[in-house]
Amino acid sequence: MMTQNTGATKVRKKLYIKTWGCQMNVYDSARMADVLRLVGYDRTEEPTQADLIVLNTCHIREKASEKLFSELGRLHAVQKARAQSGVKVTLAVAGCVAQAMGEEIVRRAPYVGMVFGPQTYHRLPEMLVLAAREEGCVLDTAFPEEPKFDFLPNEQSQSGVTAFVSVQEGCDRFCSYCVVPYTRGAEYSRSLQSIVDEVKVLVEGGAREITLLGQNVNAYRDEASGAGLVEVIHKIALINGLLRIRYTTSHPLDMEDGLIEAHRDVEKLMPFLHLPVQSGSDKILDAMNRKHKAKDYLQVIDRLRKAQPALALSSDFIVGFPSESDADFEATMALVREVGYAQAFSFKYSRRAGTPAASMDQQVAEEVKEERLSRLQALLRQQQTDFNLACLGKKMAVLIENTSRMNGMMFGKTVYLQTARIKGEASMIGTEQWLDVQEARPNSLAGEKAIG
Ligand code: SAH
Ligand code: SF4
Ligand code: F3S
Repeated sequence: MMTQNTGATKVRKKLYIKTWGCQMNVYDSARMADVLRLVGYDRTEEPTQADLIVLNTCHIREKASEKLFSELGRLHAVQKARAQSGVKVTLAVAGCVAQAMGEEIVRRAPYVGMVFGPQTYHRLPEMLVLAAREEGCVLDTAFPEEPKFDFLPNEQSQSGVTAFVSVQEGCDRFCSYCVVPYTRGAEYSRSLQSIVDEVKVLVEGGAREITLLGQNVNAYRDEASGAGLVEVIHKIALINGLLRIRYTTSHPLDMEDGLIEAHRDVEKLMPFLHLPVQSGSDKILDAMNRKHKAKDYLQVIDRLRKAQPALALSSDFIVGFPSESDADFEATMALVREVGYAQAFSFKYSRRAGTPAASMDQQVAEEVKEERLSRLQALLRQQQTDFNLACLGKKMAVLIENTSRMNGMMFGKTVYLQTARIKGEASMIGTEQWLDVQEARPNSLAGEKAIG
């Protein structure tokens, strides 16, 4: 059949996405790019060349949302400059700040064309049409009936050695300080089959490590079969070519026996777990609505270590939660000493409007928070350094991710997520190599390929 040449060509446009916040936002940004590719947008790393700029935001602590408004100010200048040369640049705000402060963004930054929450990304093509057609801002912060995962394309732009897959989203736990249950909504789990299919696509595309993501990932439950996270892990462990499996973030109360046993039984499941505890004081844990005591957490750690003696741990801590006394803070320090972490994240409590903790009495003074945070961080840094120093002279498996900026070196991650540099060449990318650890620093290891 003859095709008629109309002289028309399709012009592809450019998309720039900036991402803040957790790994789920990183995953979501990749999936937004997948949706937008189908309607003519290719990703660029250069905001000044983009036709569409998406800011994928985080609302977890105060500074996170302030960053959005300063970034918007800068981008407004870019938008105005490009308008003078006849190019229309659309600014869009996605993610958790969009969900929590949608109306306020529209009011404070009227030059923004689209504001939409985390559950609406599959509707992006429609929103773009609306934004092009209408004056003002398209605002979509609904929690749609239809789950976005059912409508995102199968094609994936994630192409690295390591990839993320969201299996669960939202949170029903309502810790009293946290915005996530409001910004991400109620817990929702994807079907087991759709997860396995997605992992297969990623592994065929070169992924060797998969991190299963969820705000409360170990609460995952396949609606049809009742399968939990442990079944997801067992299923994807069978995929040829996949070398490593991780999952994050877990709640201590959802660490079921089967999942703990998987750390013993599934070789591909890495011996490293991020298990936030937030505080070592029972009084504070209660005020935080964590629904467990310090001792329950320590028991979970104990069971995990019995199942997998090589396990290393990471955690999150909040200091200066309302009513935290010196003794409460010391209980946190004692818990850290008792567990011994390979790495950890720690934050000053940040008052989030709309959460129960924001209106609690006995808010802690800023200087006290500062002082406690620096003491806790010094201890955690010491533990991380000691953990790395203990690796000196050992042989450790490293999954090679890319070439390092240093000549003749490759970089990758150990099973404990330590960054490691190893002498070698590009052909090693995507393979596991044994590193002879000759150098250990607080944030990295280095050495040569182990012989034999
Ligand atoms: N769903 C995960 C992570 C949630 S957010 C979990 O339950 O562990 C990541 C971390 O941010 C939390 O673990 C907590 O330590 C911290 N965080 C959340 N809200 C905070 C707040 N209002 N102030 C300070 N830190 C906070
Ligand atoms: Fe927030 Fe708690 Fe849910 Fe984690 S478990 S997302 S800290 S409410
Ligand atoms: Fe931030 Fe939302 Fe993740 S608030 S930490 S981007 S779930």
